[in-house]
Amino acid sequence: MRILSGIQPSGTIHIGNYFGMVKKMIESQNDGELFAFIASYHALTSVKDKEFLEKNSYEAAINFLALGMDPEKSTFWIQHDVKEVLELYWILSNHTSMGLLERAHSYKDKTARGLVASHGLFSYPVLMAADILLFDSNIVPVGKDQIQHVEMTRDIATSFNHAYKKEILTLPVAKVDEEVATVLGTDGAKMSKSYNNTIDMFTTSKQRKKQVMSIVTDSKELDEPKEWENCNIYNISKLFMNEDELKDLQKRYLTPGEGYGHFKLTLLEKIEQYFKPYEEKREYFAANPKKVREILEFGAQKARKIASEKIKEIRDIVGLI
Ligand code: TYM
Repeated sequence: MRILSGIQPSGTIHIGNYFGMVKKMIESQNDGELFAFIASYHALTSVKDKEFLEKNSYEAAINFLALGMDPEKSTFWIQHDVKEVLELYWILSNHTSMGLLERAHSYKDKTARGLVASHGLFSYPVLMAADILLFDSNIVPVGKDQIQHVEMTRDIATSFNHAYKKEILTLPVAKVDEEVATVLGTDGAKMSKSYNNTIDMFTTSKQRKKQVMSIVTDSKELDEPKEWENCNIYNISKLFMNEDELKDLQKRYLTPGEGYGHFKLTLLEKIEQYFKPYEEKREYFAANPKKVREILEFGAQKARKIASEKIKEIRDIVGLI
């Protein structure tokens, strides 16, 4: 069974990415053959700054490695090192209707937020389909916002297979964990790099404190009991606390005397504790960029081997002799 997913280096990786995808990817290394990549070509749809893209690509690699990505066991690379994906992207473009792409929520959301409606942004789902189909992926772990793209991948693959009367492309299935399908941000909306409502996975203590303290709450005073059900602090705490700790937190909400500031500090401590065990490894990779580059190149070699065989098979089927 092949498990594949990618992440765009279009900003700092936040806890929404972590619980929605990164954590599942790392854990799935024991369940099947894992393929994980940094979607650098995809990031070009929104990032037009060389230094920013380079820094975030590197950070994404370091973070995955620190969290336990095993480059021997799994295949871990950066998208632009395996160019076969661009060839498949073009071939698949001819099996993708305009109507299908016009229905993409992500494109509509991004252009509504002011991103330029470029051809790259519009055809983004076709590149994502190529990523998935090039490796005959069976399972694609993602957050809720990417489910539609995996569905589109199935549509494109079905159309291709039908045209050439052969089951050459494998239909993937999105794997979404309901509890963390959409992790909410500090303002209660979906946590997103583009909404400025993130809590980052690895950052300075000062920045993390700033992010946690910015969580939006209602205006209940210290001496009033508070509701935890729809509170943004509680929602994020659920990701980092066990049942006993959550029960304890619930009691604190109901007992007058403590304010939201106290609950935020408890959450901040939990988040710090959660990521602390990975920090040493992260620092090691941060100090060894050459090593990181070697690991990505090693992954790209493994990925290219599979990709070049698959693209050969596809060329043959379509008549590119
Ligand atoms: P990206 O970079 O936006 O996000 C990476 C992963 O994090 C998930 N995610 C979330 N999950 C829960 N709550 C949130 N608030 C949240 N925010 C983000 C996303 O669903 C995603 O799984 N198009 C992809 C990258 C990609 C890809 C692929 C993925 C390119 N090619 C092939 C799978 C297969 C994207 O932009 O993810």
